Amino acid sequence: MTAVMDGALPPWRQRLRGALKREGRQVSARWLQLATVTADGTPRVRTLVFRGWSGAAQLELYTDGRSSKTAELTHQSQVELCWLLSKAKQQYRLRGTAAQGAPAADQSQWRSLSPSGRALWGWPHPGQPFQSVAPFPQELPEDAPIPEHFIVVQISIQQVFVKVPLHLLYAWQYVLQHDFLMLQSFLHAFFVSPSFIFIFSPSVYHVGAFAGLFQVASRLFSMI
Ligand SMILES: Cc1cc2nc3c(=O)[nH]c(=O)nc-3n(C[C@H](O)[C@H](O)[C@H](O)COP(=O)(O)O)c2cc1C
Repeated sequence: MTAVMDGALPPWRQRLRGALKREGRQVSARWLQLATVTADGTPRVRTLVFRGWSGAAQLELYTDGRSSKTAELTHQSQVELCWLLSKAKQQYRLRGTAAQGAPAADQSQWRSLSPSGRALWGWPHPGQPFQSVAPFPQELPEDAPIPEHFIVVQISIQQVFVKVPLHLLYAWQYVLQHDFLMLQSFLHAFFVSPSFIFIFSPSVYHVGAFAGLFQVASRLFSMI
């Protein structure tokens, strides 16, 4: 397999960048939903702010180490993110593996937050009974010591499913294995999971043709 050339974005990142551009300065364009699994196997989902890219297929989230999700991620690091770009009417489902860690030594992540954004990490322990007398700072300055529970979560994305508003029900699905090119990922993914439909054409007719072809191929494949 050939890795994506240096500096080149995976195809789904280029599409996502276009969709984000259409959202303009809409704050909600940076909100995504993170789904995790608890120790008892039940699902949890909540909204987080997308903080940036730390690799071609790796994104960053910030959270509070005292929140439930950190225990869930320790128990099960496989996650799914759902990112809706409403103006583009595109939904990105990103599957990957989460790694939790301390912020970088240069404190860039902590400093990237606004004073009011940083203040959330100065609030009392989440999930505990509310106490009105507890400190709820409105702001924390850039040079405030970084709380131990300021956690950077890096999601390494392995699979991307993009639903675009074609006429009908079909989604474009890009599958990416690490930084491998889409076509190679396509071949790889086909052999791993022949029941998926991979479409690289915006034409709904091509979609139908591909879908038919793949259904036949996957049946043949499953007989082998
Ligand atoms: C618009 C919005 C943005 C949020 N951004 C974050 C975030 O970046 N990081 C975070 O840990 N929680 C964020 N939250 C709070 C989470 O949705 C969640 O309530 C909290 O993290 C506790 O989740 P948990 O108990 O499942 O760990 C946000 C909530 C909203 C409504």
